[in-house]
Amino acid sequence: MDGTDRGAARGARFAGQGRGCPHGDRLKTMLIIRKAESRDVAALFRLINGYAREGLMLPRTLGELGRAAGDFAVAEDAERIVGCGALRVYSGSFAEIRSLSVEPGVLRRGIGRAITEFLIEEASRAGVKSVFALTLSPAFFEKCGFREASPSEFPARIRRSRFARNRNPHPDKRTMVIALTTAAPTLAVRESAPATA
Ligand SMILES: CC(C)(COP(=O)(O)OP(=O)(O)OC[C@H]1O[C@@H](n2cnc3c(N)ncnc32)[C@H](O)[C@@H]1OP(=O)(O)O)[C@@H](O)C(=O)NCCC(=O)NCCS
Repeated sequence: MDGTDRGAARGARFAGQGRGCPHGDRLKTMLIIRKAESRDVAALFRLINGYAREGLMLPRTLGELGRAAGDFAVAEDAERIVGCGALRVYSGSFAEIRSLSVEPGVLRRGIGRAITEFLIEEASRAGVKSVFALTLSPAFFEKCGFREASPSEFPARIRRSRFARNRNPHPDKRTMVIALTTAAPTLAVRESAPATA
């Protein structure tokens, strides 16, 4: 099994677990992952700009987040929004996970993975073949089944808009990617065949 196959298989295990339902297997409290709504914009602002102040993410304004709210999913426990992440679909083949953020007080409880699963499932339903992330946390994405990729694996349009140095100046950001295997007509992610050699 090469890296791409392994990524596809991990993606299959993600599918169906995190979508708008209680996701409490690794959490002490009930957690819902759902699409963001306009009422969530202040929480998106708080989460993302908290990390932006540490230089880990690009800052976003309330206006930008209001316009992009439809791209976001949020993780909500009984009381509040504790995490978020966005999916930007570039074409039928590629999508990017952006602004993935979990509240500092609840890290390492499976929330980042649950949001990632949700976004991958959304990408799969849209027929996306490959989901990538530009990140300072490559080890997290590896745990979620992604592998490191070279910008040369992406079409010129995405290289220009996302990998050009003036667009993404942080030198330590790594590109992580996961391949999805889609099955028409449901577009559900499915397990890849086991390796034979
Ligand atoms: C990266 C981030 C989203 C992870 O969220 P999280 O809820 O703590 O992650 P999870 O608990 O779901 O972790 C899933 C797995 O990744 C591992 N992991 C999480 N963060 C990790 C890190 N920084 N380094 C190494 N492994 C990490 C966990 O231990 C877990 O592994 P396991 O399945 O073997 O137990 C969170 O640390 C964050 O918001 N970071 C700041 C913003 C950022 O860098 N976002 C990514 C850019 S798009």
